This record gives sequence, structure tokens and C-alpha cells, in this order.
Amino acid sequence: MTIAIELAYLIASILFIMGIKLLSKTKDARRGNILSSVGMLIAIVATLITINVVTFVEIFICILIGTAIGIYYATKVAMTKIPEMVALFNGFGGLASFAVGLSDYFLKSGTSLESLDAVNLTSIILSVLIGGVTFTGSMIAYLKLDGKVSGQPITFSGQHLINLVLLIAFVVTSVLVFIDPTNLIFIGILIGISLLLGVLTVIPIGGADMPVVISLLNSYSGMAACATGFILNNNVLIVAGSLVGASGIILTQIMCKAMNRSLTNVLLGGFGQTVATGGQDGPAIVIKEIGVEETAMLFDSVSSVIVVPGYGMAVAQAQHVIRELMEQCEKRHISFKFAIHPVAGRMPGHMNVLLAEANISYDKLIEMEAINDEFPNTDLVLIVGANDVVNPAARTNPKSPIYGMPILNADKAKTVIVSKRSMGKGYAGVENELFGYPNCLMLFGDAKQTITKVVSEMKEMG
Ligand code: TAP
Repeated sequence: MTIAIELAYLIASILFIMGIKLLSKTKDARRGNILSSVGMLIAIVATLITINVVTFVEIFICILIGTAIGIYYATKVAMTKIPEMVALFNGFGGLASFAVGLSDYFLKSGTSLESLDAVNLTSIILSVLIGGVTFTGSMIAYLKLDGKVSGQPITFSGQHLINLVLLIAFVVTSVLVFIDPTNLIFIGILIGISLLLGVLTVIPIGGADMPVVISLLNSYSGMAACATGFILNNNVLIVAGSLVGASGIILTQIMCKAMNRSLTNVLLGGFGQTVATGGQDGPAIVIKEIGVEETAMLFDSVSSVIVVPGYGMAVAQAQHVIRELMEQCEKRHISFKFAIHPVAGRMPGHMNVLLAEANISYDKLIEMEAINDEFPNTDLVLIVGANDVVNPAARTNPKSPIYGMPILNADKAKTVIVSKRSMGKGYAGVENELFGYPNCLMLFGDAKQTITKVVSEMKEMG
């Protein structure tokens, strides 16, 4: 039986790895998700067979409740609220590892102390630390993203020193736990410190950096699960936890690189505060507006178009009407492509998911490095609800907080139309000098409404 279970775990682990690999390509991502889900089902069934603590009825009831809650939220959540949902998932993952670590401790410390060997104690302590930090840190991230607490960085003097002291206190108390494993006061201190550290490390981080923090917390939740795998002697949990831990760290790095920030810079916080002062002292921007009819006429006269989607497209849910715009252009034999910035929107792959939802084929979505040289030869760029990812200040203004961030060179096209509601700023809170460029025209209004009108005009033109 043990061999069959371990074999099932091995198959599940292989499916997880194949699933993650497929997630790296948009067109294979759905298959990757299905493979990983099958792997998870195999792992769960194999684990249930070995269960001897709780009854199948109890497990079944829990699965039913969990599934019902999962289906309800997965179907109800708006695409723009996915980061909040991921934050909650990470938090619950951390809480689960935290709870397993503690329950194992209480089970063993109440029976035979011999079973609390060094490996076991280390795993329990790591589960409590990483799980606790992930839980409270993710809850703060969720509250900030959801606007339930201010997204502004909360900072005070000596903050980082306090975190360091708490970490040292955790290490010292962990040593004491090794010396006297049954002392509940030491365990209580470890619990308190880990929960407090989660809150204190996330509060100084500004809303704009929250997606990076969520990715990092996602990685922590994987590491916590990995530590729990050692406690439970469960190989599949160790493998799955390591995969989540490693992929979360890689994603965090990719996001930092795309924003030209270091992880330390993100974690030390205060980004939102620099934004208020940095690089805002240029001359007032003079803009030119364009109406719906003129926009339609412009589209009718060009031979190449690149659309730059951003967070505003997600808010407006304009992806479907943009597909209609694409159909109108292709009817006129106009070359039509999408330029995808790695951090456009609010989560990795945000734009790819939305455009795929509108049945826009993957080969039309071109990544930043591949498309940047094409802008100077493009007749018309339509920016739909994107702002920071096309802000030339990232190239031209060393004082700007986004200076150095790689951007889409949309400003280099012959004509640029920006679809947005107002002169409102993007997530980084900085002015966009592009809006005042001579080749730039502002098409004000909700992206879905205005582009719908543009498409109607084009249809009328035939
Ligand atoms: P943003 O810079 O956030 O700009 C979005 C723009 O959309 C706003 O200026 C807003 O202007 C406009 N908008 C909002 N609702 C709209 C609607 N209904 N119709 C039309 N326009 C609308 O977006 P971006 O260029 O995609 O940049 C993403 C930002 O998020 C970057 O700063 C990036 O660093 C940050 N970030 C992203 C990630 C990931 S992984 N994607 C992670 C961390 C940070 P109005 O209010 O005037 O309409």
C-alpha cells in the first residue's frame, strides 16, 4: 500500500511540474491548469486513503463546504479583484501550515517527547514562522488592496529595527524550545512574534507595490507548506510547496525587474510617499482632444495599428469591443497587433487573460521587447486605459519615481490616441508627459463606451 501511495504522490508531483511548465505559455495555460488540478485530485485521494485521524464523513463535509465557498467566490469575483482573492488564498494557505505545525506540536508534546526530534521541531518552528507571517501579512495586503485600510505606506521611525529585534527574539526563543520543548510559554512567544511580524512587514509597503508583495507571500505560503510536508512526512506536500515557493520567488523577481525596483526597495516600503514629491515639477501639460468620429476616420485611413492595453481596459471591460475594432480594421487590411507590457494591469498576465477572454488570438499579443522597435513604423497607436507603462518619463526624467522602468515606446508612433476618462494619473501616481506630446490625441470617456461608438462609426463607413 505504501508503495502505491508514494507512486501516486510521484505521479501527482510530475503533473504539478508539467502543469507549471505549461502555464508559461498563454495558449497552453488552460491545459496546465487542468493537469495540475488532476495532480491535486490524485494527491488528495492518496492522502485520504492513508488518513486515520478523522472520519471520511467529516472530511467529506469539509470538502463540500470548501468547494461551495470556492465556487461561489471564483464565479463572483471581478477580474480586477483577483489580486485580493489571491491575497486571501495565500493567507489561508499560510494559516493552514501554521495550524498543522501547531497541532502536530500539541499532539506530540502531549504524548511522547521522543517524537519531537530536531527535524520535527525545526519543521514545526518554520511552519509557525512562515505560516504566521504569511497569514497576517496576506490579510493586511488584502485589506489594503480592497481599500478597507489605507493603501498608503504606514511608516514610523525605528520600524525596521523593531522587525530585526523581533526576528532575533524569534531565533532565541526557538533555541529555548529545543532546550525545553514542552514549555508552552516559548511556543506562545513564537506564535505572537510570527503573527506580529506579518503585520509589521507589510504595513510600510504602498498599494502600488502590493502585487509584488502578494507574489512574495505566495512564495512564503509554498515554503510554509513545504515545512509542513516535513512535519507530516508527506512527500507530495514537500514537492508542491517547493514548486510554489520557487515559482513565487521567480515571479517576484520578474515583476521587480519590469518595474526597475529591487526587492529590498519594495520591502523597505514608502514608494507611495516618494511619488508625491518626485518628478512633478515640469511645465503644465497642454493636450489635444479627439472625438469619436475623427478617431473612426483616422482608423479608416491608416495601414498599421498597435493597441496598448492597460488597467483601464480591465476596469471598463473594453476587451470585447476592442476585438470588434480589430475585426473592423482587419476588414480594411490594416495590420493590427497588441503590445503587452509585463506589468500592465494589476497582476501578471492580466492583459493576456482579458484579451484571451475576448477570443483574440495569442499570436496577436506581442511582448514588450519584441514590439518596441515596431512603434516608429506604426501609423497609429491606441492606448486603452494604460498610463504608467507608456510614460516616457521612465526614459527621460531621472527625478521621476518610475525612472528606469522599461516602458512601451508608444510615443514613437506617428500618431497616438489615448482612451481614458480624465487626466487622472496611473498607479504610480505620476503625470504622464506623453499626453502633451505633439503626436498625441486624448479620447476622453470610459474606454468601453467610446470605443463602442468608434466601432459603430466604422461600421457605418462600411
Ligand atoms: P495605470 O498606470 O494604473 O493606469 C490606468 C489608467 O486607466 C488610469 O490612468 C485611468 O485614467 C485609466 N482608466 C481607469 N478606468 C478607466 C476606464 N473605465 N476607461 C478608460 N480608462 C480608464 O495602468 P497601467 O499602465 O496598466 O500600469 C500598471 C501599473 O500597475 C504600473 O504602475 C505597474 O508598475 C503597477 N503594477 C502592476 C503589477 C502587475 S503584475 N500588473 C504589479 C505591481 C504594480 P482615468 O482615471 O483618467 O480614466
